[in-house]
Amino acid sequence: MNKRKIGILVSGRGSNLQAIIDCILKGDLPLEIAAVISDKSDAPALERAAKAKIAGFTVNRREYSSKEEFEAKINAILTEAGCELVVLAGFMRILSATFVNRWQHKIINIHPALLPSFPGLDAQKQAVTYGVKISGCTVHFVDEGTDSGPIILQKTVPVLDGDTEDTLAARILEQEHKALPAALKLWAENKLTIEGRCVKILA
Ligand code: GAR
Repeated sequence: MNKRKIGILVSGRGSNLQAIIDCILKGDLPLEIAAVISDKSDAPALERAAKAKIAGFTVNRREYSSKEEFEAKINAILTEAGCELVVLAGFMRILSATFVNRWQHKIINIHPALLPSFPGLDAQKQAVTYGVKISGCTVHFVDEGTDSGPIILQKTVPVLDGDTEDTLAARILEQEHKALPAALKLWAENKLTIEGRCVKILA
């Protein structure tokens, strides 16, 4: 059976991309990564894609005169590659409503906090600064807002006395590497349904 194709958008290190690649290679995730697209040409994530023999693309915002054209290029690559789902794995740009509507309920993001707390940038720093005792990560469908779409999975970690942004981020990242592949597996198996802003997981 042909595996469903996904595209992954990245901006940097690509450890979440690697977690997905590893699960696929182990036979735990019945998906094919048809394209990895980075907005930064020097993103280590692109090297990870190349090593796994996955097509990698750089789409540099500065080379396009508008956000619309930049996103149209990303959309064209994803469409050309036959992607059914877009995964944001450390993609550090906000997508426009036009793009989100084109891919309605077909974009999944991983965020390093327990949403709706601490959306946006520097989520781990926000959690440490606020003094919460529990944080974690959230995998969610993307809607037109920032980190506001229907939640698929969350995983928690303790916030310990003396934690810095970096120590908390490392603890959360371990859980991200489990949560994102787990959510994608549910999607691949057609087990996710969206009702309003709630995601139901079918048995
Ligand atoms: C991850 O912690 C991810 O949750 C976060 O960026 C990091 C990317 O790491 N994403 C966001 O903050 C999105 N707002 P990675 O490149 O090693 O996967």
